[in-house]
Amino acid sequence: MQHNKSTTNTTETGSALAAASTVQPPASARIIALANQKGGVGKTTTAINLATALAAVKKRVLLIDLDPQANATTGLGISHRIREQGTYSALIEGIPIQDLLCPSLVPHLDVLPATTNLLGAELELVSFATREQLLRRALMPLRSSYDYILIDCPPALGLLTLNALVGADSVLIPVQCEYYALEGLSQLMRTIERVRGLFNRALELQGILLTMYDRRNNLCDVVAEDVRHHFGAKVYTTPIPRNIRISEAPSHGKPVILYDTKCVGSKAYIELASEVLTQEKARLAAMKPHVTIAATDQTPHTLINKIIA
Ligand SMILES: Nc1ncnc2c1ncn2[C@@H]1O[C@H](COP(=O)(O)OP(=O)(O)OP(=O)(O)O)[C@@H](O)[C@H]1O
Ligand SMILES: [Mg+2]
Repeated sequence: MQHNKSTTNTTETGSALAAASTVQPPASARIIALANQKGGVGKTTTAINLATALAAVKKRVLLIDLDPQANATTGLGISHRIREQGTYSALIEGIPIQDLLCPSLVPHLDVLPATTNLLGAELELVSFATREQLLRRALMPLRSSYDYILIDCPPALGLLTLNALVGADSVLIPVQCEYYALEGLSQLMRTIERVRGLFNRALELQGILLTMYDRRNNLCDVVAEDVRHHFGAKVYTTPIPRNIRISEAPSHGKPVILYDTKCVGSKAYIELASEVLTQEKARLAAMKPHVTIAATDQTPHTLINKIIA
C-alpha cells in the first residue's frame, strides 16, 4: 500500500512540476558524478533523492551505483535477489548497461545496481589498458536515452571514482558541514584538475552541496561560510539539513522524498533539484542561443513550494 501511495505522490509531483520544464529536452544526457573521497558525507543520499526529484519532473534518469557498498541500490529498495549482475558486469565483463538495468519504484528512474563482486573491480581494473575509460565507453550508447545520468561514487579516489570522473560531464560534491570538510575538498579539487588535464578536459564542477547542516551548531555556519567564500556561486543556495527522516528512509528502501514528502529533508532535496534544473536551463540556453525558453510566470522554486505547501 505504502508503495502505491509513494508512487502516486511522485507521479503527482511529476505532473505538476513538468510545467517547470521550459527548455526542450537535451539530445544528450547530462552525466553527473557525485563524488567526495570522504565517507559518510551524503553522496548516496543525494544521488538517490536528486535522481528521484528529477524523475518526478519526468526527466529520464539513470542512477549508476559505482560503490561496492551498494547503498544506492538498497536505498532504492532493490533487493539482492533481483540483482545478479550490475556495474561490475558493465565495467569488467563488457555487458551493455541496457541489459543490466533494474527499474526502481520511482517512475522514470532506472538503476544500474552494484553487486558484491564490484569490490574486486578496483584491483581487476588495473590489468585493463584503458582502465579509466571503461565507464565512459559503457555510457556512450545511453546518452540519448536519458536526460540525467547520476553516478554514486565510493568514498575513495581509486579507479572506480576515476572512471566516474572520466565518464562524467560534471561533478557534484556533497560536503558535510564539519571541521575537516575543506581539507578533503582541496584534495578532491586537485584530483579533478588532474583528471581534466589527463583524461577529460570538459569535466566541470556542477556544484557543491552543503549537507547535514544544523543551524544550532555554530561550527556548521563557520564551515558553510568558508566553503561559500572559496567556491562562491558554485555552492548551492540550498543546504541539506540534518534530518532524522533522511536517515530513516534507506531502511525502508525508499528515497526520503517518497518516505516523507513533507519533511524538511525532502523539501531541501526538491529545492536542490530545482537549482540543478535552473542551472541546466542556463547552460543549455548559453550553448544553443536559438533554443526558445518558454515564458512562464512560475519558476521551479515557486512551483515546488506550491506542491509541497
Ligand atoms: N541530511 C541528513 N540528515 C541525517 N542523516 C543523513 C543526512 N544525509 C545523510 N544521512 C545519513 O548519513 C549516513 C551517510 O550518508 P550517505 O550514505 O548518503 O553518505 P555517503 O557519502 O554516500 O557515504 P559513503 O562514503 O560511505 O558512501 C547515512 O546513514 C545517511 O542516512
Ligand atoms: Mg555512499
